[in-house]
Amino acid sequence: MNFRSDNEAPVNASILQAMIEANQGFEESYGYDTYSERFTEQCQQLFETWCEVLPLSTGTAANSIAMALSCPPYGAILCHEDAHLNRDECGAPEFYTAGAKIISIPGKHGKMDANDLDQYLANTGVHGEHESLPCTISLTQCTEAGTVYSLDELLQFKKIKEKYGLALHMDGARFANALVALGCTPAEMTWQSGIDMLSFGATKNGAMMAESLIVFNTQYIKEIKRLRKRSGHLISKMRFISAQLLRYIQDELWLKLAAHANQQAQYFFQNTQQKITFIHPVEANEVFCRLPVELIASLSEQGFEFHVWPGFNDVIRLVFSHATEQSSTDKLVQAIMQHE
Ligand SMILES: Cc1ncc(COP(=O)(O)O)c(C=O)c1O
Repeated sequence: MNFRSDNEAPVNASILQAMIEANQGFEESYGYDTYSERFTEQCQQLFETWCEVLPLSTGTAANSIAMALSCPPYGAILCHEDAHLNRDECGAPEFYTAGAKIISIPGKHGKMDANDLDQYLANTGVHGEHESLPCTISLTQCTEAGTVYSLDELLQFKKIKEKYGLALHMDGARFANALVALGCTPAEMTWQSGIDMLSFGATKNGAMMAESLIVFNTQYIKEIKRLRKRSGHLISKMRFISAQLLRYIQDELWLKLAAHANQQAQYFFQNTQQKITFIHPVEANEVFCRLPVELIASLSEQGFEFHVWPGFNDVIRLVFSHATEQSSTDKLVQAIMQHE
């Protein structure tokens, strides 16, 4: 029973079927196929605005191209210290920007605090050209701690971006889970909250190597296609990525899949909270909890798979996905609640 990662979940059957259906005859290559064109049109409807859309195969590429579009080599990217682009992308954002500096800001529950960021920015500039120029703020939604920025919190970052003339990026590797958690529209959670660029994830929520970068602000689209090519993500048979993304957003499939994942996490929380400690609020599909080490060992022996969080021997991360079965969640709840 796998609670290790939504990346380990299978591909949703109807998304796989969409790839099979796209496998008919010849289609133009390198993104000029009808599926990619339709995906752009559908995104413009979904987000209720014009946007430039780049289908890609990894979230790291989406984040890194977004950084390259908005931050020059002498610039700085501001993000939470645990942000994927700071901790888990092996320097790709620095590489793609040809050397921009990442400045990480600490904050509770995986979130940057807008006041801390404002204070940090207010104190920059004193060293003139000796310091990197703040250019881009990147927020992760859902955060790496499984929490979700509210619309009010996002609007505080919009004010900061406007105050300092910065770009605002959202790493939406789990965008659907956050959207379902907030119950708002894609437009409200993005450009209406000041987001200029969105890394729109689909892989964790049922797709296969299908992500995209969506840019709402024309200020950040210069040479976007060349940047994608240079990143190695101009996929020749892009129709198979775009066919998945089209199916993903059709008939609200993406929201149904994310709602299931979030519900499983919530169910787990509701049914175990009297017994164990949750170290972050449970708001979407990732759960971090503190358990006695003997219980962690016993769960592993019983076949439950999860990550013991690096640096702690008594904290585990459980990830619930579109494919998590209720019976597996029930067994996990039972194993925890019955432990003496
Ligand atoms: C928050 C977040 N951003 C981005 C990514 C991008 O991942 P990848 O490059 O593996 O597709 C991940 C994957 O784990 C993630 O959790």
